Amino acid sequence: MCPSRIVEPTRGRAAPGPATAAPAALEARGLTLRFGGHVAVREVSCALPRGSLTAIVGPNGAGKTSFFNLLSGQLRPTAGSIHLYGQDVTALSAAQRASLGIGRAFQLTTLFPALSVLDNVRLALERQRRRSWRLLSIAADDVPGIEQARHWLGRTRLLDREHEPAAQLSHGDQRKLEVAMLLAMRPRVFMFDEPTAGMSVDEVPVILELIQEIKDDPMNTVLLVEHKIQVVRSLADRILVLHNGELLAQGDPAEVMDSPLVREAYLGLAGARS
Ligand SMILES: Nc1ncnc2c1ncn2[C@@H]1O[C@H](COP(=O)(O)OP(=O)(O)OP(=O)(O)O)[C@@H](O)[C@H]1O
Ligand SMILES: [Mg+2]
Repeated sequence: MCPSRIVEPTRGRAAPGPATAAPAALEARGLTLRFGGHVAVREVSCALPRGSLTAIVGPNGAGKTSFFNLLSGQLRPTAGSIHLYGQDVTALSAAQRASLGIGRAFQLTTLFPALSVLDNVRLALERQRRRSWRLLSIAADDVPGIEQARHWLGRTRLLDREHEPAAQLSHGDQRKLEVAMLLAMRPRVFMFDEPTAGMSVDEVPVILELIQEIKDDPMNTVLLVEHKIQVVRSLADRILVLHNGELLAQGDPAEVMDSPLVREAYLGLAGARS
């Protein structure tokens, strides 16, 4: 699951695995995204093994968020395909992919600012039950729903804020609330785009602890875009390095980040090849 050597990526189709191997949780095959004449993602092929945490790293503008958006369905690829547990989901919308188990956090737009912290999680539970955010309602006497929502607030250390409107939470607590809502929807693949961005120093450890807890469940597969290399080194089983839209390298975090090719391209270190 955790390759110990750097695997230089091949363009186009991913190399087929053994016939008996279970399909990866999520797989990209030859993914390409063009914005007019600009290629943001170029023929990227990679697979996220089940139960692993993969971090995507690369300099600003490398294509990390674009690649992320292709996997979650916010953007459609110009070429290539996306496979969730072996099923081709390329033609499916973000909502359809969410119903199949792709859970994406950190779009603060998913919060309902005027509602209480508790009711936000209750709505997420209802969303999971009905598979749509449209026309949701929650009954005041739904005791099991309330207990379930409180369970997720306990997991995310927000139980003492349950009656406050989401809008009153700090940025860090709003992100924790998003994780609570995400957990309530029981995805199989968790996606986090720069989860610690904009957080104060004392808010960061709790989010990392939560991601670690999600990772510790072998049923979960996690994909993380992260700039902070120490976060990547502590959490990731594998990393993907994107550079100018291309997959430069993938494999064990320490080995990949220490490779001269990556150090030169990503960190711009003089003499990295020597
Ligand atoms: N909607 C868009 N229209 C045109 N070009 C875009 C669009 N979104 C991204 N790009 C371009 O695609 C390239 C990749 O952008 P992307 O946001 O994916 O990079 P990133 O690796 O996430 O960067 P950062 O680390 O700054 O978040 C950049 O050159 C960017 O300017
Ligand atoms: Mg980005």
